[in-house]
Amino acid sequence: MEKIIDENKQGQSLIIDQKKGNKRKLFIESYGCAMNFSDSEIVASIMANQGFNTTNNLEEADLVLVNTCSIRDKAEQTVRKRLEKYNAVKRDHNPKMKVGVLGCMAERLKTKFLEEEKIVDLVVGPDAYKDLPNLLAEVDEGRDAINVILSKEETYGDISPVRLNTNGVTAFVSITRGCDNMCTFCVVPFTRGRERSRDPQSIIEEVNDLWNRGYKDITLLGQNVDSYLWYGGGLKKDFEKATEMQKATSVNFSKLLEICAKAQPKMRIRFSTSNPQDLTLDVIETMAKYKNICNHIHLPVQSGSNRILKEMNRLHTREEYFELIDNIRRIIPNCAISQDMIVGFPTETEEDFQDTVSLMEYVKYNFGYMFTYSERPGTMAGRNMKDDVPEETKKRRLQDIVDLQRIHSEIKTKEWLGKTLEVLVEKQSKKSENQWSGRTQQNIVCVFPKGQYKVGDFVNVKVTNCTSATLIGETVGLSENN
Ligand code: SAH
Ligand code: F3S
Repeated sequence: MEKIIDENKQGQSLIIDQKKGNKRKLFIESYGCAMNFSDSEIVASIMANQGFNTTNNLEEADLVLVNTCSIRDKAEQTVRKRLEKYNAVKRDHNPKMKVGVLGCMAERLKTKFLEEEKIVDLVVGPDAYKDLPNLLAEVDEGRDAINVILSKEETYGDISPVRLNTNGVTAFVSITRGCDNMCTFCVVPFTRGRERSRDPQSIIEEVNDLWNRGYKDITLLGQNVDSYLWYGGGLKKDFEKATEMQKATSVNFSKLLEICAKAQPKMRIRFSTSNPQDLTLDVIETMAKYKNICNHIHLPVQSGSNRILKEMNRLHTREEYFELIDNIRRIIPNCAISQDMIVGFPTETEEDFQDTVSLMEYVKYNFGYMFTYSERPGTMAGRNMKDDVPEETKKRRLQDIVDLQRIHSEIKTKEWLGKTLEVLVEKQSKKSENQWSGRTQQNIVCVFPKGQYKVGDFVNVKVTNCTSATLIGETVGLSENN
């Protein structure tokens, strides 16, 4: 691989890995969670060895791969619309183009995709990307190809991802795959299979490699990162069957965090997503101990009502969640906390909804992602519960908590006024070409005049103003972290 510096429209440098001599063009795009974006980088790496370099131009693509999301119906509709677009491009400009669907929709719909969408030539589930060369050979010979087998082992730990659309300083590193939690609304356990963890050695190698290539901020990724457990390979649920030796030398999430923090003491380390029932005090204490582990926890709760939490099969109560929040704030006083919330889960009453509101009032999250319930075929709630909250009620409840979150974000953002914070310069601000945009440890976006600084610098910024979600400041010099 050689690094090519590509000037994009804003004049920022993008570092893109391209392999010399590769003739075919791959257009790859991703929808949904960070894991999908990270998986696409693994796919790009596999395809680079098959003679493909990436392109941003659909009209010249030999192969289009779309990494899809099934989490809500709307996510699936978005992908269907993209398929219509590919269809039009193929018809009008690029008849040679082949189209493959990757990710969760591929896993959920399987051969149905080939029947329903004539444009699709290739269907590949999230654990089958190493089979892409074989599948592609089929497609090249004019046949449709499909592999949606889920794996007990696959973590892609041995593949070095091609970084796509990168700013050159932030990157994702995946550490677990699948989820065993079986929240009743969620399709992920069905599309991504059982939970398994990646060898810490390969994680550290990737982290070291990223540092050596100039990256300064990484996010360890998993559907449920706190459940990370390496005992030599195999499914998380089979840990009980491991040998005493394997158990004694196993690595859990707080150990992994510590190993990463020590391996690269200047690299900012983030992680996502935490499930409250699996986030241990150990992890919070490790975060407090290492200053390069960022003080932000994304801690989805979904609902503030104990009855709904139980219906959702979230294995904690509202009171236990508050205890966790109190512990985080006691051990890491300036830790940012963010949420995911679902309104309109089947049977949710006004009283249940008010419990969500009061939970939000208690926590006052820094930011959050809020959704109306979308019934997913095959899930426990989809099979056993009627989607009985009227659409208008769902929408009204959503608007109420979105408004409340905005108020809380504003309160939280204002707390930084007058303070000096370390910001990693990530890219040019969207609003002004004279300003940089970066994030604080707490994952809050901060914009400030460019001065003599460059992408990748850790800069101390004095916060002088803010909007509800963004800090505005002035630089006071380079941070000692450089
Ligand atoms: N643990 C995962 C969660 C993935 S889903 C992670 O890594 O983030 C992301 C969020 O989508 C969930 O936290 C939940 O708030 C929302 N979500 C999941 N299934 C949903 C559904 N059926 N309807 C509406 N929102 C849903
Ligand atoms: Fe989904 Fe719950 Fe796992 S939200 S990804 S089943 S933790």
